[in-house]
Amino acid sequence: MALSGDAPDFIHRFLPAGPGTGPAAGTTLLLLHGTGGDEGDLVPLGRALLPGAALLSPRGRVLERGMPRFFRRLAEGVFDQEDLARRTDELAAFLQGAATRYGFDPGRVVAVGFSNGANIAASLLLRHPGRLRGAVLLSPMVPFEPEPEPDLGGTPVFIGAGKADPIAPPAQAERLAQLLRAAGAQVTLHWHPSGHTLTPDEVDAARLWLQQIPP
Ligand code: MLT
Repeated sequence: MALSGDAPDFIHRFLPAGPGTGPAAGTTLLLLHGTGGDEGDLVPLGRALLPGAALLSPRGRVLERGMPRFFRRLAEGVFDQEDLARRTDELAAFLQGAATRYGFDPGRVVAVGFSNGANIAASLLLRHPGRLRGAVLLSPMVPFEPEPEPDLGGTPVFIGAGKADPIAPPAQAERLAQLLRAAGAQVTLHWHPSGHTLTPDEVDAARLWLQQIPP
C-alpha cells in the first residue's frame, strides 16, 4: 500500500516496508531528490538499494523557476545559508512527525540523497547529529562548514562522486568526506569516472554498503 499526503508540511510519499527479515527490516530510507525532481523520482532507486525497506520521499518546498529544491541557492553552488538552516530544521521536524504518523522507528532512518537532496542530507547530518542512522550522499557538495564540529559518533556515510562532475567538483566530495570524518563519521568514498549523475557501479556499491550497516 502506498500512502500519499501533504502533511506534515511536505508533499510526500510513504511506502511501508515489505515483508522480510534481512538488512531492510526496520529501516526507512529517506529519499531526497535533486533539483527539479519530486517525491516519485528516487522511489525506484530506494527499491533497488534496499528492497523491502520503508520509503519516505518528500518533495522539496523551494521552487527555483518552477523546479522543486530543498533549499534556496543564490547562484550555482552558492547556498542561502539562512534558508538552508531553516529548511534543514523543517526536514528534521517532518521526519519526526512522519515517524509518529506512519509508525516507523525514527532511530532507523537512512537518508539517500542526490545532488540538492544529498546536500540537505549532509546538512541534516551536521545540524542534527544522531538524527540519521546513516546516509548515502550521491553527487554532494559541502553544505556549510560546521562550527563547532558536531559529534557524529561513528555514523556511517557513503559518498558517491564523479571525477568529471562540473557541478559538484571532486574537491567538494573530498572536503565533505574530510569534515564528516573529523566529526567522527565512518565515511566510504566511492568515485566514478562520470559527471553529475548516478552510475550503475555507484548504485551497486551503495547497495552493498547499505547491507552492512548494523541495525
Ligand atoms: C545544489 O544543491 O544546488 C546542487 O548541488 C546542485 C543542483 O542541485 O543542481
